[in-house]
Amino acid sequence: MSETSFTPRVFSGIQPTGNLHLGNYLGALKRFVDWQDKDAETIYCMVDLHAITASFQEPQALMRSTRELCAGFIAAGLDPEQSILINQSQVPEHAQLAWIFNCVARMGWMQRMTQWKDKAGKNQQNASLGLFAYPALMAADILVYHATHVPVGEDQKQHLELTRDIATKFNHDYGVDFFPITEPVIEGAATRVMSLRDGSKKMSKSDASDASRINMTDDADTIAKKIRKAKTDPEALPSESKGLEERPEARNLVNIYAALMDQSVDKVLADVGGKQFSEFKPMLAELAVEKLAPISSEMSRLMDDQSEIDKILTRGSERARAITAPILRQTYDIIGMVPPVEV
Ligand code: TYM
Repeated sequence: MSETSFTPRVFSGIQPTGNLHLGNYLGALKRFVDWQDKDAETIYCMVDLHAITASFQEPQALMRSTRELCAGFIAAGLDPEQSILINQSQVPEHAQLAWIFNCVARMGWMQRMTQWKDKAGKNQQNASLGLFAYPALMAADILVYHATHVPVGEDQKQHLELTRDIATKFNHDYGVDFFPITEPVIEGAATRVMSLRDGSKKMSKSDASDASRINMTDDADTIAKKIRKAKTDPEALPSESKGLEERPEARNLVNIYAALMDQSVDKVLADVGGKQFSEFKPMLAELAVEKLAPISSEMSRLMDDQSEIDKILTRGSERARAITAPILRQTYDIIGMVPPVEV
């Protein structure tokens, strides 16, 4: 464990690989805003270098998704003055530190990553080297800021454990107490939002069925229709969370409701226990539209002025580099890389 006390600093990121969905919003983005409002120093990143690891991205589509993600961050309540908003490729120290971490992380650690196994599938030989090294870049994203807290959904837990392992090994190998042992922050009712069509699968951008997820850009009718058609069971809602065990679809809809309401699941069940889904689903649809529609209309308004988004990202990366450049320089120094001199 680290002995040094590090200034609390929050970092997190989202891949610009298509539409933001409700899982990203409740598991990550909404909580980014909560951290900003706690007055912590907050840095949020569109991880465009990660976005190209899994499959080929059309250049125009990647640019659009990156700007749209930035618009989504702002529309959801992130203030580009209060938080630092960046795209990863504009802050080169992320990739530079990632190289160092490629030399710290062990092949065996990477091979155990469940996301690597899921994404590479059966044909690992054909997966990119970048996909394999993905978690080392993620560790660099975090540690190049000496970030202490990382709000994410549950699916990122293993990557954050690896980040701690990398920091620990680096500190141990070089006999320093330089990188913090970062805290994953996985909390709230919706750390794992599930598919609306199958309560055993997480809601995801890559699901072939659009009906499985609510996209932040869906209009009110589409949101209502997807919730109406969401898979459920024939029982009424229970009054206590114990009654949701073995009922993954019911639990998912209640979790979504609780997260959107900013209430605990117990409080929600105390209010809606005994109701049938025919009554609960319209309540959920109304709440989802009330919370998401303003974000989606603000996103499209912001997308009308893309040069403003580009300025926000450029300014964000300048502010970011004031933090990352000295940390990278110190890292190189610890490792023994000869620094440039005045000539
Ligand atoms: P990504 O782009 O897959 O997802 C972004 C965030 O959304 C969360 N999330 C969910 N939360 C709840 N329910 C779901 N169904 C759901 N789906 C996604 C994810 O947990 C994540 O918090 N590797 C990261 C991006 C990344 C990163 C980082 C995050 C790169 N560097 C450094 C934190 C710190 C990823 O692929 O997220």
